[in-house]
Amino acid sequence: MTSSGAGRLEGRVAFVTGSAAGMGRAIAVRFASEGAKIVGCDIDAAGDAETIELVRAAGSEMVSVDPTDVADRDQIRAWVDHGLATFGRADILVNHAAGVRWGFIEDTTPEDWTFTMRNEIDSVYHAAQALWPHLKESGHGAIINFSSQAGRRGSNQMPMTAHTAGKAAVAGLTRQLAAEGAPFGIRANAIVPGVIETPSSAPIIALGKDGPLADMLAQIPLGRHGTGEDIASAALFLASDDSSFITAHELVVDGGSLAVV
Ligand SMILES: NC(=O)c1ccc[n+]([C@@H]2O[C@H](COP(=O)([O-])OP(=O)(O)OC[C@H]3O[C@@H](n4cnc5c(N)ncnc54)[C@H](O)[C@@H]3O)[C@@H](O)[C@H]2O)c1
Repeated sequence: MTSSGAGRLEGRVAFVTGSAAGMGRAIAVRFASEGAKIVGCDIDAAGDAETIELVRAAGSEMVSVDPTDVADRDQIRAWVDHGLATFGRADILVNHAAGVRWGFIEDTTPEDWTFTMRNEIDSVYHAAQALWPHLKESGHGAIINFSSQAGRRGSNQMPMTAHTAGKAAVAGLTRQLAAEGAPFGIRANAIVPGVIETPSSAPIIALGKDGPLADMLAQIPLGRHGTGEDIASAALFLASDDSSFITAHELVVDGGSLAVV
């Protein structure tokens, strides 16, 4: 909160996908504590019910449509319609949710490939398109997409063939949304998380030096993996007027991993 008592997102409505857990939940709660109303969605209805309580405890309101599969265009449209009917506007879109199927090139089936693309990139297209007219109306629209280190580099340890393509596509689409949105005050940026502990990554992180993230974990310059709170801080910066001259940017939140060998 600022010293005046008004939050940095006061009066704004934030649509957050994957709000039931991990980074999505941390973002919903942080944005709420800064005055935003939240429109969440997830395939996990029970998790989102908990997030709604946490948002309330943070002093704001959240509605959600669960289950919503972000890969499904009609479900995204229904989610957007519900949020607009409830709060009447849209200022922020956080495309956080994504599913992935892991595999090296020899093992990745067409089904794995299509599943990953539908989750990682089609979902961003569906949500951005559905909310676009409303973000234009906002006058200070902000889109925050989730890329990954996988969008920047390959790996001979992580079986992430489809994932590299999906996340590189997110980075490209982010730049294009920034170009198209600029005349309307819409900024589009991406967060590039490093190793962040979430319900999905925790079991792999827990394998430590015996797991596929062994080298990545050992080589994090700041000496720890990240948390949902680390990502929520970055997302708040990109959503708020604090970053009003920043668009088409990839904000790397990885303890220095990508830049330091
Ligand atoms: N965890 C990491 O270390 C890491 C690193 C780089 C990038 N990322 C990216 O961050 C985002 C979240 O990562 P995470 O998996 O660690 O998640 P997370 O645990 O922070 O949350 C994922 C949420 O999304 C929901 N979800 C998954 N698929 C969905 C779908 N099709 N429709 C609706 N909701 C869905 C899950 O139920 C869960 O609540 C993803 O875009 C991921 O690629 C994560």
